[in-house]
Amino acid sequence: MANAEDNLFKNVISHAKEYGFIFPSSEIYDGLSAVYDYGQNGAELKNNIKEYWWKFMTLLHDNIVGIDAAIFMHPTTWKASGHVDAFNDPMIDNKDSKKRYRADQLIEGVIEKLEEKIEKEVEKAAKRFENFDRTMFVTTNARVVEYQKKIDEINGRLKTAMANNDMVAMKQLVDDLEIADPISGTKNWTDVRQFNLMFSTEMGSVADDANKIYLRPETAQGIFVNFLNVQKTGRMKIPFGIAQIGKAFRNEIVARQFIFRMREFEQMEMQFFVKPGEEMKWYEFWKDKRLKWHKALGLGNDNYRYHDHLNLAHYANAACDIQFNFPMGFRELEGIHSRTDFDLKSHEKYSGKKLQYFDSEDNQNYIPFVVETSVGLDRMFLSVLASSYKEEKLEDGSERVVLKIPAPLAPNKVAILPLMKKDGLPEKAHEIMNLLKFDFRCFYEEKDAIGKRYRRQDAIGTPYCITIDHQTLQDNTVTIRNRDTMKQERVAIHEVKAIISESVSMAELLKKI
Ligand code: GAP
Repeated sequence: MANAEDNLFKNVISHAKEYGFIFPSSEIYDGLSAVYDYGQNGAELKNNIKEYWWKFMTLLHDNIVGIDAAIFMHPTTWKASGHVDAFNDPMIDNKDSKKRYRADQLIEGVIEKLEEKIEKEVEKAAKRFENFDRTMFVTTNARVVEYQKKIDEINGRLKTAMANNDMVAMKQLVDDLEIADPISGTKNWTDVRQFNLMFSTEMGSVADDANKIYLRPETAQGIFVNFLNVQKTGRMKIPFGIAQIGKAFRNEIVARQFIFRMREFEQMEMQFFVKPGEEMKWYEFWKDKRLKWHKALGLGNDNYRYHDHLNLAHYANAACDIQFNFPMGFRELEGIHSRTDFDLKSHEKYSGKKLQYFDSEDNQNYIPFVVETSVGLDRMFLSVLASSYKEEKLEDGSERVVLKIPAPLAPNKVAILPLMKKDGLPEKAHEIMNLLKFDFRCFYEEKDAIGKRYRRQDAIGTPYCITIDHQTLQDNTVTIRNRDTMKQERVAIHEVKAIISESVSMAELLKKI
């Protein structure tokens, strides 16, 4: 990460803590690695993101319904889904620093450095030559061609080793590339071992293997095992979708970058069941729809891009990520996967129960194919928080930190601020709050100078501040201040609701998609 971005990210993290968005879990005991708690403002923002997703799925699509399945599932679920045997990451330890890494990520780090070298050569050449032709340059410049050859060779060896589950070849690659531990600086590595990412625990009082159960690593399986329950009780006709928001758990080897990669996180997933053969049409449909959902938030269209998976998981026939431009660069925000009939077929096999759909139009039974959209709630939170965080220099030379959170997602919609703590102003302010609190989340504050209070509301992203002063008592008007423009207007109390309503409305946001 470049230094400026690094600093920005650090500022976002400390801001999130200082203003009650995110705290390290059990902080009084020095925290727990890659686990975080959402504070009073974080919980509100998170709930609003959930609402935006849930309403998009279940209100705007009359063929999608939502469920809430349990975190614990029968252990055979995870055998059938492939997670017991194949949900592994290759890990390696440095014997001197005692630090643990993902071997594939160490290798990818070498590839990234080579790619950076290519970009530097391209930048230098682009400055030197007029009418610079990038394609021509990268295919003819000897140094760049050499770097690219090396990248292709490493990529090829990495893919083969991963595909064949060949940990010896993986270790050989780490050795051949002379990768050193960034902490100890040594190349004193252990062998590479496969590490299963699922957390397990025991159910009941007898701690033997028969009672071993897992904390779900994805919410999707709760939907697959309920596919027929929902289809039958909801009289759903294919194509239809089942949506769910819930916790997932992964014992990530390297969990870092704040809430980007956590060990306990939340997913918002939707499985869309379609007729076999129609999955590519729906895959394209959902790719498009999901990107539009993200872009409607107004965080900047250039901050999103698709990233197609070239290496497909064994169950997928197409997959791509929607990446977001996080402070550490473009990274996966959401996955869209065409999962074929793998999961339902496998659950049918392991459970011995039929999981087929009777298509009355075609008069035939079949196992539907599935297109899934899966977005991390915490990553959505980070995308909103990081891109809303602005350090602004104002015309009068002062500075402010403001969270320009899309108004419908903001933790509080309006702050009610009596100018003074006397002369009946607090009483009038409460009267106004009582009018507004049924429609908007209001925040009441009477302490400190008004300028200080505005800054505090900017820092937590409150779109509107309403100030009650002595004139209010005479003519029933207030000043309303806009977070983004900082403009203040004098308006009648009875106009306030209408002014705020449109911009903070979830319905209006959904209409933009
Ligand atoms: N059911 C498909 C599935 O779970 P995935 O790509 O492994 O696919 C989907 O995860 C999304 O869940 C990711 O795009 C990401 O947003 C989020 N996610 C995955 N692992 C995460 C972690 N350790 N911490 C936070 N979010 C995570």
